Amino acid sequence: MIEIMNHFNRSVSFQRRASSFSSPRANRKNWVSRVFRGLIVIGSVISFCLALGAGYIYVLPNLTQAFYGYGISKVDGYWDGCNIFDGSWVLNDGYPLYNASECPFAEQGFNCLGNGRRDKYYLRWRWKPKNCDIPRFNVQSILEMLRDKRIVFVGDSMSRTQWESLICLLMTGVEDKRSVYEINGNKITKQIRFLGVRFSSFNFTVEFFRSVFLVQHNWAAKHGPKRVRSTLKLDKLDDISNQWVNADVLIFNSGQWWVPGKLFGTGCYFQVGNSLKLGMSIDTAFRTALDTWASWVETMINTNRTHVFFRTFEPSHWSDQTLRLCNVTHQPMPEAGGRDQSLFSDTILEVVQNMTVPVTVLHITSMSAFRSDAHVGTWSDNPSVSDCSHWCLPGVPDSWNEIVLLYLLANYTDPLQ
Ligand SMILES: *[C@@H]1O[C@H](CO)[C@@H](O)[C@H](O)[C@H]1NC(C)=O
Ligand SMILES: *[C@@H]1O[C@H](CO)[C@@H](O)[C@H](O)[C@H]1NC(C)=O
Ligand SMILES: *[C@@H]1O[C@H](CO)[C@@H](O)[C@H](O)[C@H]1NC(C)=O
Ligand SMILES: *[C@@H]1O[C@H](CO)[C@@H](O)[C@H](O)[C@H]1NC(C)=O
Ligand SMILES: *[C@@H]1O[C@H](CO)[C@@H](O)[C@H](O)[C@H]1NC(C)=O
Ligand SMILES: *[C@@H]1O[C@H](CO)[C@@H](O)[C@H](O)[C@H]1NC(C)=O
Repeated sequence: MIEIMNHFNRSVSFQRRASSFSSPRANRKNWVSRVFRGLIVIGSVISFCLALGAGYIYVLPNLTQAFYGYGISKVDGYWDGCNIFDGSWVLNDGYPLYNASECPFAEQGFNCLGNGRRDKYYLRWRWKPKNCDIPRFNVQSILEMLRDKRIVFVGDSMSRTQWESLICLLMTGVEDKRSVYEINGNKITKQIRFLGVRFSSFNFTVEFFRSVFLVQHNWAAKHGPKRVRSTLKLDKLDDISNQWVNADVLIFNSGQWWVPGKLFGTGCYFQVGNSLKLGMSIDTAFRTALDTWASWVETMINTNRTHVFFRTFEPSHWSDQTLRLCNVTHQPMPEAGGRDQSLFSDTILEVVQNMTVPVTVLHITSMSAFRSDAHVGTWSDNPSVSDCSHWCLPGVPDSWNEIVLLYLLANYTDPLQ
């Protein structure tokens, strides 16, 4: 874990440097080489060559073994020199990994094919880190790895999508689909606060808690200013947070709701202690909330047991967000077009770097920024409005989950065995 953290610090500074120097020309070159690579090589071949070139040859058999065989030796060395979030999308015939129409936990609004999308290239892209490879998804090993565990997603609708994606990925390895069920018999809805899906043959659950701000949201006191209808208590974590404590895996996100329209536009203002902070900026409030989250993790979570992730901001691809105009492309964009940068993501990185316990940042902002082809557009449950924020399933959230699983695998694989 320490190794991963150290590595992470290094890769963050690397990425900062890289992004401040990257020119459009470099990006085009990148795109060309991406296409080129996609044409001539497939997964393991390239990783073998790269591993050879970089002198990591000893790593590869171990990693492969770890993913296919499960429960094998060191994967530590694997992370050296590999920033898993720095890479490109390559076409791969092994994708998509599931059919959303056959997964009862993919909500209709995200099942683009099921809602009439005709172009299908968007289903077939695999994320390829520059200096390493994400091993092919092996559902049986993963199901065994998750046996007896409790996996908890906390956040907004983007978190719900990722929760659905993970369930659908895992269900491809379960023969009796009825052995997988929501523990309260609830249906997926946009407002529901808790959903828990149990894989009974493997004795694990994959849960989702809706907490769009992570901190407490309360109705405002009667005697306060009229415009203040509710407040976010930036120094108090959401009151359902006690239910997140005993998880083996915790995956947070937040960001989409920290916008003027969803806050001030609805009469929601910030509060710290007993005082209203009417003039506080959203950036400052987000950082304050994350500091609250960080000290909650430090005091409430036993990170010997619980692997904590925070996923960074999911870029959207509106051509005009106020007019709700968006154009879902047929191919990923050749350039990130600035969408790889996000103040939310920067804040998450800064807060986590300062923490005293290990937390993995899933820095998916830049990899997702290329995927203008992967949003639901008009193929949602409400075709009258276009949506370039949410993602189709199968799709980009599957890749986020493959990275989560790779981290878990690296961690749950005992280096001494
Ligand atoms: C997905 O499953 C549905 C229902 O079984 C089927 O009609 C459809 O052809 C499948 N789609 C693909 C792309 O396999
Ligand atoms: C199921 O997992 C829990 C831990 O989450 C464990 O306490 C329990 O013994 C397991 N049950 C079985 C039947 O293995
Ligand atoms: C976590 O593990 C470390 C080292 O093994 C140990 O010193 C520490 O007490 C453990 N913390 C908890 C909360 O169990
Ligand atoms: C990583 O795995 C080891 C056992 O292999 C475990 O002791 C440790 O608690 C895990 N850490 C996290 C953060 O999951
Ligand atoms: C959508 O984007 C594609 C490619 O970026 C472009 O060719 C097309 O004209 C755009 N359509 C609209 C309606 O903007
Ligand atoms: C990190 O923590 C130190 C000490 O608690 C504090 O002074 C500093 O402002 C923090 N930095 C960030 C980026 O949060």
